[in-house]
Amino acid sequence: MYSKKESRYENCEETARWLRDRVRTPPCIAIICGSGLGLLADTLCDPQVFSYSQIPNFPTSTVPGHAGELVFGTLQGKSCVCMKGRFHVYEGYPLWKVTLPVRVFKLMGVQVLLVTNAAGSLCETYRTGDLMIIRDHINMPGLASLNPLIGPNDDRFGPRFPSLWDTYDPNLRSTALEITHRLGHAKLTHEGVYCMVGGPNFESVAEAKFLRLLGADAVGMSTAPEAVVAKHCGMRVFGLSLITNRVAQGYEGQEAVDHNSVLEVSKWRSQILQDLVTELVATICCQ
Ligand code: 6GU
Repeated sequence: MYSKKESRYENCEETARWLRDRVRTPPCIAIICGSGLGLLADTLCDPQVFSYSQIPNFPTSTVPGHAGELVFGTLQGKSCVCMKGRFHVYEGYPLWKVTLPVRVFKLMGVQVLLVTNAAGSLCETYRTGDLMIIRDHINMPGLASLNPLIGPNDDRFGPRFPSLWDTYDPNLRSTALEITHRLGHAKLTHEGVYCMVGGPNFESVAEAKFLRLLGADAVGMSTAPEAVVAKHCGMRVFGLSLITNRVAQGYEGQEAVDHNSVLEVSKWRSQILQDLVTELVATICCQ
């Protein structure tokens, strides 16, 4: 699980070099697209597309709604790379594989990581289709020693004991909030705590109540490992959840969630997410 042989610096460097040799403009912003939110990648100008299966050391994606392509190009004049499809713990990937792309991006010069995901709402005031800017996270697997940073630390990536207190960049969060106001989406935008669970099953009612008691506003099956690894290696991170469903915290009167309804809501709201991320990219300075 924690084999550092595969995730070591040299291995990420090999992948980064392979991509660097082929990519016209090295990216300064990386965007990880969540379930059904990959259309953003299709809006990049001057795109260069690599299938995950072509890229040395890259895992391949197995979930419907996740394409499995890396798209390089420019968005708002900024050179970006989009992950169309991400890797999840529930697919059976060890965490070093889930997060390998983030380290590869770092070695290619990426300074800012933007992450989107689909999540279920635990908060009474959130509705299906709302957006949640991630203020902080609860990394449930991480608390139980399923953390991508476990194992020997390579100081070339970052410190042994990184702080996470400002993982989700305050400036990016306030800029994003301003943008949602400007775009007329203030009413459907929140800021909150994202809780990552391993999945693949959705939460039981008792689990949902437990997560709410812990202080989580939304729950999903991704993002925390990528954010931890990005923060470890000094990137600025922005996370955005699309609330695709309410999570049942009682035994009556609520419909069970399924993956198709998650994808349907993603499709319905994908334009709003795309607009927000695009406007946010426009504000980012890459030195
Ligand atoms: Cl309700 N739970 C989890 N764990 N992930 C989700 C979700 C719920 N809705 C979308 N993704």
